[in-house]
Amino acid sequence: MKKFLASKGILVLLLGLLLLLAACGSSEESSNEEPAADDTPEQTEEENETEETETETETEEEGNGEAGEKLVIGFSQVGAESEWRTANTKSIQDAITDAGHELKFSDAQQKQENQIKAIRSFITQKVDAIVFSPVVETGFETVLQEAKDADIPVFLADRSVDIEDDSLWTTFLGSDFVEEGRKAGNWLVEEMADEEGPVNIVELQGTVGSAPAIDRKEGFEEIIGSEDKFEIIKSQTGDFTRAKGKEVMEAFLKSDGENIDVLYAHNDDMAIGAIQAIEEYGLKPGEDITIIGVDAVRGAFEAMADGKMNVTIECNPLFGPQLVDLIEQHFAGEELEKRIAVEESMYTMDQAEELLPTREY
Ligand code: AHR
Repeated sequence: MKKFLASKGILVLLLGLLLLLAACGSSEESSNEEPAADDTPEQTEEENETEETETETETEEEGNGEAGEKLVIGFSQVGAESEWRTANTKSIQDAITDAGHELKFSDAQQKQENQIKAIRSFITQKVDAIVFSPVVETGFETVLQEAKDADIPVFLADRSVDIEDDSLWTTFLGSDFVEEGRKAGNWLVEEMADEEGPVNIVELQGTVGSAPAIDRKEGFEEIIGSEDKFEIIKSQTGDFTRAKGKEVMEAFLKSDGENIDVLYAHNDDMAIGAIQAIEEYGLKPGEDITIIGVDAVRGAFEAMADGKMNVTIECNPLFGPQLVDLIEQHFAGEELEKRIAVEESMYTMDQAEELLPTREY
């Protein structure tokens, strides 16, 4: 019985020991759980960090933004030199913000160095996309390469660049400036069909080195060059502004006065400035001197309705919504055409009064 009691005592002892060990084990588990609960935020952060890195890596391959996401878009605009430009700036700014994207805007005041600085600043700020309307065609290789190295797609708007490596931008959306020049030339050839000639033309060019100045000249000369009676007797830049257009026209009138038959201005603002100069000189714009402009801005329609201007070739600035669609298509992984042209028309003096109230810019 004593033996039985002793072995029973040992059994109880063993059982107690086992229970104690089990209790220790479970308390170790729960002590493991405690710090795990404390670690939760760390783990989440770690998970988040990993997710962010993955997102960055994923999007780095296709650009920094993602399809359907709010994008940060840097927009480097030429300046505020003309009625056309004001309408174009508003169209692009509104389209970006109306689509829910964030806009970073920079006005280059028609200076290339300002645009280079602006693009560099967009790169530093890690924007998702850059919209860029280059003041001039050349000299942007380095900064566009920097944007490419930073995986930021560049969308050329309105004006293009003259750079061989077309991988430096995603797409160009804008007008066919050569075609605009051709339209101006064709209108003049028809208008002067019965004239024997010589037909003396003065030309107000846009900003030196800019795509519209180079191309509008080329297209116009291509057409009028087919007839000997047309001669460009003076050609100078008016930098796309009214003030410069007036100033240069005054100089043309001083040197060639009554000899001038036609003014071909690369934009309406310069034509409007020149009209003032012609009136101050004592001639009738639209009658004594045929006036051709480009853009089809309201000011040109008003001048045509007053009989002071003969024709304006349309250059449509209201492509903001189309541009934002293209940017979104790019971030959705779609392949874009390298050049996308905006559709345009031409308006003459006899249409002006009727169309003036409907003009949007
Ligand atoms: O690049 C477009 C041209 O620039 C417009 O014809 C002119 O008005 C503007 O300044």
